[in-house]
Amino acid sequence: MKVRFPRMAYNRITALGLALAVVAAGMSLLLFAFESVTVSHNPYFGIFLYMVLPPFVLLGLLLIPLGMFRRWRAMQRGERTEPVKWPHIDLNVSSHRNAFTFFMVGTIVFLALTSFGAYHAYEYSESVDFCGKTCHTVMHPEFVPYESSPHARVACVECHVGPGAGWYARSKLSGAYQVYAVLFDKFPRPIPTPIENLRPAQETCMECHWPEKFFGGQQRRFNHSRYDDENSSWPINMLINTGGGDPATGQTVGIHWHMNANIRIEYVARDEKRLDIPWVKVTELGTGKVTIYEDEDDPMDPEELAAEEPRVMDCIDCHNRPSHKLRSPDHAMDLALLGGRIDRSLPGIKRVAVASLAESYATREEARSGIAEAITTHFVEDHPDVYEGRRPAVEEAVRAVQSIHERNFFPDMGVQWDVYPDHIGHMEFPGCMRCHNGRHKSADGREIVRECSSCHTILSQGTGERYEVTANLEAGLRFVHPEDIGEAWTEMGCYECHEGIQP
Ligand code: HEC
Ligand code: HEC
Ligand code: HEC
Ligand code: HEC
Ligand code: HEC
Ligand code: HEC
Repeated sequence: MKVRFPRMAYNRITALGLALAVVAAGMSLLLFAFESVTVSHNPYFGIFLYMVLPPFVLLGLLLIPLGMFRRWRAMQRGERTEPVKWPHIDLNVSSHRNAFTFFMVGTIVFLALTSFGAYHAYEYSESVDFCGKTCHTVMHPEFVPYESSPHARVACVECHVGPGAGWYARSKLSGAYQVYAVLFDKFPRPIPTPIENLRPAQETCMECHWPEKFFGGQQRRFNHSRYDDENSSWPINMLINTGGGDPATGQTVGIHWHMNANIRIEYVARDEKRLDIPWVKVTELGTGKVTIYEDEDDPMDPEELAAEEPRVMDCIDCHNRPSHKLRSPDHAMDLALLGGRIDRSLPGIKRVAVASLAESYATREEARSGIAEAITTHFVEDHPDVYEGRRPAVEEAVRAVQSIHERNFFPDMGVQWDVYPDHIGHMEFPGCMRCHNGRHKSADGREIVRECSSCHTILSQGTGERYEVTANLEAGLRFVHPEDIGEAWTEMGCYECHEGIQP
């Protein structure tokens, strides 16, 4: 039996729409089946399947009735004599019945596929693949460190979007803009941080961590290597007084005191990166007591201050790189030497490697050859015996330094360690010392502490003859600077000399 449809269904636009819908839907099904059985996930696959094809299916489906409507109008115009009539549907007429059945079945199948597709599109747009890999160069500087961070199993959206429909909508709107920006190459390099619409907030972190948890002290060992020919090691072992705690059960001490529910700390920064903080306000919510600390050397102009909206301090004011930490040449080399990837007995390797990483290179390739040349020249010229006798160790060191560059430097995005300051600690960036630098004083003469022991206790430091270990776990040791710089470290911040390269 020949299936017939109403006359108006026979037109080019409808046929084109049908063909488009069938082809696009067919491709989607095929790709979907393919994706379900393959293991490797190519991020472009998802974009194509969930974002490019569906609009074509939809366009095809819209063209079908459009063609029919236009045809019907044309037919009406041809028969001017009668008044304009709406088409009538008579299920006793076989062509009408066919069209009706086709339309109903088509709609049901389409709706089913759409909700399924929409769910997958939603899932896909929330995936780490989509956020981290699709936009390749753009998100590379965030994605690469993320993969080896403590949050490697936490999806990007869990920090950048978090719970709540409002945030979800905001993120999709700014996300749509970002997709456009990437497609048309309209994004800034480096991407400025904080990203206003996707800024992780306290609420997102608190889905998994809670400030009431009491951590006590965390023991940490910082393994430094020096810049001498021996690359001699200089470990510092300390107890960091993280503290925390719940005001309801007492014990709210230490570093996480800032997050105490009874305290609100607000501050005003002069710059976008929030490195220059001249004004800090502490409010004790229980008693309403307010203390304002101002940078006595460089206070903020009262008019300027009045124009600023103070920011309430939260987790990200200290933990701003919990998953995107880019290592400085100094820090990366310390880790490579510690892990044994680079042979510590190669004379002066830290010095030359850090210097080669500190150079600026326009491209990855330039960096690879620049690093290889700097390190090879160092050994050929200054230590020819080492170069002759231990060529494989030198070559392995070159590869390791090249891989440090690859993982921490992103020339096409203009990103490297010093572009995004890390606010935890105070070694390479001001961090805690933005407020705890000894210059922030209140009107009644109190100051935000700079005393080393208020934040950590040194348990042991140094090596060999200069090794010391504390006999008093409460007080700890007085800091010893490995190089003789007098008492400079008591007045200046470490970060003023240690900027991630050789001081
Ligand atoms: C543990 C939480 C967390 C996760 C997971 C996370 N981010 Fe971030 N991200 C942050 C924080 C915090 C910032 C810094 C925001 C600030 O300084 O205000 C940031 C900043 C960024 C920036 C701005 C540029 C920059 O480097 O500061 C981009 C882009 C970004 N993240 C992308 C991603 C992508 C892509 C993923 C997943 C592969 C991801 N993030 C996963 C917390 C997270
Ligand atoms: C979806 C859950 C989740 C979210 C959201 C999350 N984290 Fe985590 N975070 C974890 C887990 C799990 C670990 C422990 C990883 C481990 O033990 O290696 C962790 C570890 C940490 C650590 C310890 C890191 C270390 O060196 O061991 C810090 C600090 C931290 N998170 C801060 C944050 C901050 C700040 C945010 C918000 C921007 C955040 N986290 C959001 C799950 C989360
Ligand atoms: C005043 C700065 C500051 C603020 C604000 C802050 N932290 Fe921390 N946090 C630290 C420091 C310092 C450590 C010690 C670990 C280190 O040095 O990396 C730490 C440690 C942690 C750890 C790891 C503890 C462990 O067992 O290793 C987690 C998780 C954490 N913070 C989560 C948070 C969350 C969530 C918030 C917001 C509610 C927050 N922090 C607010 C400074 C801060
Ligand atoms: C925005 C300014 C600001 C930043 C940044 C900051 N703090 Fe504080 N911190 C304060 C203020 C204000 C106080 C309270 C001073 C007072 O009133 O006694 C304080 C108090 C403390 C205390 C004493 C808490 C107690 O038990 O009384 C510790 C410890 C501390 N901060 C550690 C840190 C560490 C570690 C960092 C960096 C990871 C840091 N702070 C970053 C403003 C800041
Ligand atoms: C406001 C709190 C605070 C004060 C005051 C403070 N520190 Fe620290 N310091 C920290 C934190 C937090 C870290 C850990 C950073 C991290 O997790 O990487 C740290 C890390 C260090 C480290 C190891 C750094 C590294 O990367 O190897 C040394 C050494 C150190 N501090 C010495 C000092 C000395 C000396 C003083 C006194 C002049 C001092 N600190 C004052 C909070 C403080
Ligand atoms: C006045 C500048 C200056 C200040 C301030 C300073 N340092 Fe240094 N530091 C140096 C110099 C110079 C060296 C020797 C570098 C070399 O070996 O060639 C050095 C070396 C070191 C080393 C061993 C090599 C390395 O880079 O890892 C450590 C660890 C160190 N300093 C820690 C600190 C800490 C922690 C502070 C802050 C409490 C600090 N320094 C403050 C100048 C400074």
